Amino acid sequence: MCGIVAYTGPKDATPFLLEGLARLEYRGYDSAGVAVAGRTGGIKVRKVKGRVADLAADIPARFKGTTGIGHTRWATHGVPSDANAHPHLDNAGRIAVVHNGIIENADELRVRLAADGAVFRSETDTEVLAHLVAAHAAEGGELEDAVRAALGKVVGTYGIAVLDAEQPDRIVVARNGSPIVLGIGEKEMFVASDVSALVRYTRQVVHLEDGELATVRADGFRTFTEDARTTHRQPSTVDWEIDSYDTGGYEHFLLKEIHEQPGSVERTLSGRLDERFATAHLGGLNLDARELREIRRVKILGCGSAYYAGEMGAQLIEELARIPAHSEPASEFRYRNPVIEADTLYIAVSQSGETYDTLAAVQEVKRKGGRVLGVVNTVGSAIARECDGGIYLHAGPEISVASTKAFTSTVVAFALLALHFGRIHDLSPADGRRIVSALKALPGQIREVLAQGDGIAALAAEYADSTGMMFIGRVRGYPVAREGAQKLKEISYVHAEAYPASELKHGPLALISPELPTVALVPDDELLDKNLTTLGEIKARAGRILAIAHRRPEARLADHCVLVPKSEPELDPLLLNIPLQLLAYHAAVALKRDVDKPRNLAKSVTVE
Ligand code: F6R
Repeated sequence: MCGIVAYTGPKDATPFLLEGLARLEYRGYDSAGVAVAGRTGGIKVRKVKGRVADLAADIPARFKGTTGIGHTRWATHGVPSDANAHPHLDNAGRIAVVHNGIIENADELRVRLAADGAVFRSETDTEVLAHLVAAHAAEGGELEDAVRAALGKVVGTYGIAVLDAEQPDRIVVARNGSPIVLGIGEKEMFVASDVSALVRYTRQVVHLEDGELATVRADGFRTFTEDARTTHRQPSTVDWEIDSYDTGGYEHFLLKEIHEQPGSVERTLSGRLDERFATAHLGGLNLDARELREIRRVKILGCGSAYYAGEMGAQLIEELARIPAHSEPASEFRYRNPVIEADTLYIAVSQSGETYDTLAAVQEVKRKGGRVLGVVNTVGSAIARECDGGIYLHAGPEISVASTKAFTSTVVAFALLALHFGRIHDLSPADGRRIVSALKALPGQIREVLAQGDGIAALAAEYADSTGMMFIGRVRGYPVAREGAQKLKEISYVHAEAYPASELKHGPLALISPELPTVALVPDDELLDKNLTTLGEIKARAGRILAIAHRRPEARLADHCVLVPKSEPELDPLLLNIPLQLLAYHAAVALKRDVDKPRNLAKSVTVE
């Protein structure tokens, strides 16, 4: 998704802008641009359809300025093109704007601005902002007042950074639904839509709130609201390791993050297991035992892989705490006028903490008086701030577009929550101890699966040329199948469909043929016999089968098998999922896909 960077200070802004944009490449984009201003010479702009490297190659040596803004664009209004790339300028070339989000009343504003003489050079909604700010700036006064006045006329979501040729010592930024982070340096200031762009320059950051603006100068910043009331913001320190933002010797971020899982799971568990009472301690829930006992239902909300992790979470809560639990796509929930119940606990799941659909779902629940917890990876993110309490994953930054370590840590966080809930309800100490020791064993067991990487790579190469793949699992295995299919299609572009194994005979069995292989989740649990029967039905139709199992099925039932270590049945799905991450990764590599930047996808979807 679109990225923003900005700099003001004593140095030339361009090197930081280009490096910052390169750091944001992982989020997905189709064009890039920068604008700089100095004490002389107005605003200089360069923008191109294509990569940040293409932009860097296009920048002449004389392109210098001590204040600047930059952007990577992911097209929403208008095709990817040089003209539609940001920054956008007003006609006099005084104001330059970069923008993430969507201006909903752009058409109406465009007509009014054109009637006043503005000439539009792009199809974007953002360009109206440049003309609108310029119209107010022409009345005189401070840039921040012109930006506030312009935003007062705008309906929509935005993170913006604005540069003014006549006030080149500052940048004005604003946030409404799309993140903006200020980075505080030594007599210089940085701005970005994501800390990964500025963490090499400073660890001291301020996350703007929705409805907040800031004027940023080399010697500091001032934050204020849309009605000009000053706000007081204390900087926080980014505690993620800098090397999390590098591939660290791995070929791709995705492979690195898959291999980081033993460590990220350890961090999710760290300090949270209580062996004495066979339970989990979760400091941030802000709910005491009495309040927890009053909860009759749990509704989990997330998008994509976060929603599938929520499905695994719902099963854990039902099984361990015996509280009815259900996961629903936040993107659907927010539009269907949901009934909010006082005795339902709502849980929002998000790696980035910035997914707009999930944030809007949280706001819908809260508006109707519901209580929402967050299961979130990014500390201080919009969703984390909006929730009443929750669990941070501590998985470390996830750079690859495809979610892997955050997915696994989310399921671990749900296991901790289910254990905590369960031990407040009827889960016995013996069962609590069973889950505690299974959780402690997970990092080592994940390592055992990762050690099979070469074998899984060979299988992936064999299956990658299929036109499509079926993923099946029963009950606990079904969310694993859904996540496995999602991972394969998003990074390898191989069509994949997930079905409950029990449903195969009610329709999709018609698809089974040698051309459509099946990945079957076959845990050694109470449903093993049923799963083996399904394998027999597929083999009877000459379907090829790759089984992910605890025990190798008979050769007549599966062509290939990846064995994973056995956990407790409730936690088995988490381990069964790891080979599917490797399968998707190696299939994408075999098909020569751009693994960390899959086509049409962005890391965090901050638009509707
Ligand atoms: C899949 C993937 C997406 C995200 C989804 C939610 O690999 O990464 O499906 O899971 O866009 O993102 P977050 O968790 O940041 O809210």
